[in-house]
Amino acid sequence: MSPLPPGPSEPPVVQTLRWLLRPISFLESCRRRFGDSFSVSFLGFQTPMVMLSDPEAIRALYSVPGHTLPPGRTVVLQPIMGSRSLLLLEGREHLARRKLMLPPFHGARMRAYEATVREVVAREVDSWPAGEPFALHPRMQAVTLEVILRAVFGVSDPAHRARLGERLGALLAGTASASLQFGVLLSRRFGGPDPLAKLEALRQEIDGMLGAEIAARRADPGEDILSLLVEARFEDGDPMDDAEIRDQLMTLLLAGHETTATGLAWTFDLLLRHPHVLDRLGAGDDDAYLRAVVAESLRLRPVVPLAGRRLSEELRVNGHVLPPGTDVTPAIWLAHTRPDRYPEPYAFRPERFLEDAPATYAWIPFGGGVRRCLGAAFAEMEMRVALGEILRRRTLRPASGSAERVARRNVTFSPRGGTMVIA
Ligand code: HEM
Repeated sequence: MSPLPPGPSEPPVVQTLRWLLRPISFLESCRRRFGDSFSVSFLGFQTPMVMLSDPEAIRALYSVPGHTLPPGRTVVLQPIMGSRSLLLLEGREHLARRKLMLPPFHGARMRAYEATVREVVAREVDSWPAGEPFALHPRMQAVTLEVILRAVFGVSDPAHRARLGERLGALLAGTASASLQFGVLLSRRFGGPDPLAKLEALRQEIDGMLGAEIAARRADPGEDILSLLVEARFEDGDPMDDAEIRDQLMTLLLAGHETTATGLAWTFDLLLRHPHVLDRLGAGDDDAYLRAVVAESLRLRPVVPLAGRRLSEELRVNGHVLPPGTDVTPAIWLAHTRPDRYPEPYAFRPERFLEDAPATYAWIPFGGGVRRCLGAAFAEMEMRVALGEILRRRTLRPASGSAERVARRNVTFSPRGGTMVIA
């Protein structure tokens, strides 16, 4: 008898398509049929992936630092991020970089970047049309890209920023589609041309530009995160070399740009359909309420659906003993919509986080343990400041009658229609 929990019996290709095309209904149907934990089989993976939603099981998973990564955590992005990316390394190599890269992302440092976010938002909002519908999601992507170029990469020259931003935008768009992801999975499984090869020239061009920025920051450091990374040292006293810094910059961009933009788009989609919440936000400078809105949005619309591990030792969950080598992930959507943790789980109610801060293992939009999102404090700061600043400058209303449905984009759950609004 398999030690793994049961799961859907459709062939992997069907399960994969259900996951890529209708992820929420796939997850909800698995929960209805199998409960707190179940096993799914995705195309291109040798073994099933066990999904969890119960906070105690998630705590047990994330508390063991020795677990490694499941294959294909970032199946599409790996060639772009590079071999020394923090997101992809494991064990001692991962930990050494984590120690070096954590201080620049420490919560207390984030105040330094608030003014940058305000400036970027102010400029962006000025370009919005008045009285006619436009898609907010791409506007939020423009904001988060510009914020990363300024606060993380420290590119101060506007012409350099525009060119690098344009090339990076093309690269990101090139990696985003569900059909490309499906193509990559197919080529891994059955061989054939790698759909990513066509992005290679673009990648090399970007590498050249990043190399120039790294050299500039070595010569003349600023307040940005790249300058801190250039000066940071491993425990043996060595700095990161340029090729590695390049990998980490691409990692921060890929991990931090789309995710935060999507988090903002979802937050607006929720807010605009809950006028009483919007009114309360608009009524004044209530920082605590703004934080609660961000927390509740990330609960109800988790941007990243999975943050898994491959077990380095056996894990006991929900009556199963999962053997070492098993791939296990929280199903973040399911963890966030448990009625035992969140009464009326599908209701958007920021008040639930006013008195009680989110519980560590029942609120996991940023994953957990030694691999928890490095940029969590940055992302929360950016969402909070951008949200406050936009609402201060514009009155928004939804351009369509119904709330956004969830589509997959890259490794994210994204609003299908781009969040159409009228300012
Ligand atoms: C709302 C926005 C964001 C969300 C929802 C998000 C979510 C996540 C998740 C789920 C993980 C995997 C955690 C795990 O496996 O336990 C992760 C990892 C990571 N994130 Fe974020 N993220 C966001 C923004 C950012 C930003 C702004 C940055 C940096 C500028 C960033 C940098 C990273 C890095 C470097 C990792 C890898 C950490 C490691 O493996 O040690 N993220 N993020």
